[in-house]
Amino acid sequence: MEVITAKTAGFCFGVKRAVDMVYKESEEERVYTYGPIIHNEEVVKDLEKKGVNVLCSEEDIKAAPRGTVIIRAHGIEEPVYGLIENAGHRIVDATCPFVLKIHNIVKEASQRGEFIVIIGDKNHPEVQGIQSCAKDNSIVIADKEEAEFFLENKAKQYEKLCVVSQTTYNYNKFQELVEIFQKNSYHIVNVLNTICNATEERQKEAAQIAANVDAMIVIGGKNSSNTQKLYEICKSRCSNTYFIQTAADLDFALLEGADKVGITAGASTPNKIIEEVQTRCQI
Ligand code: F3S
Repeated sequence: MEVITAKTAGFCFGVKRAVDMVYKESEEERVYTYGPIIHNEEVVKDLEKKGVNVLCSEEDIKAAPRGTVIIRAHGIEEPVYGLIENAGHRIVDATCPFVLKIHNIVKEASQRGEFIVIIGDKNHPEVQGIQSCAKDNSIVIADKEEAEFFLENKAKQYEKLCVVSQTTYNYNKFQELVEIFQKNSYHIVNVLNTICNATEERQKEAAQIAANVDAMIVIGGKNSSNTQKLYEICKSRCSNTYFIQTAADLDFALLEGADKVGITAGASTPNKIIEEVQTRCQI
């Protein structure tokens, strides 16, 4: 069996930076992350063993004994910084610089009076963080229907729109929505493609591999939105696509008869897990 592992599989720059920051800080006393540092249970468990606890809510921030709170790669909502500081904690900000760039774009566009359209998933913490920089002057749009509804019913009251994207959004879907805005809107539309290259490259390589293999394995946390999107892309090109968190989740008997197997992994998947799956495929 030939196994093709995507070169772009695994930790992206921002996640690697955030995880390294937490491991470095874990040598100190009382270290917390606000939410799991990445969407990967294995990494979170390992950090727990080193004494890094996860704070899940504003109540947790207030109740936790003073320590260091590390902000995740996809960032937080603006008011939470104040909350952490007021509770007496030290902040170590591991927000990915690409996400911080979107925060700045949104803040500046908002100050210029532009209405902010964020293309993405409104329930994702990254999007909530971005939206918090625009205050009430924004909307999150996830698909064609929502874009059309907004343009027909709500957009008229705004003169200028600034369109940005969640970093992990699918590039083709983003382009599709941007076209709707450009064709159907009388506004001045300022479009900023803020999809991270790491995501785009990972998606393109995954699509290319999936189209040329008999089975495709996508590794990543079940809650990871970028892994979920990778899975959708691969599944549409290779019906034998499997979404797993670790090697233990896959029945390798399913791969029998496959001449070529492809492997990719989301941005939160440690190399160790990718290597394990690769080795199991080759046994
Ligand atoms: Fe940053 Fe891109 Fe990763 S935005 S966290 S480098 S997917």
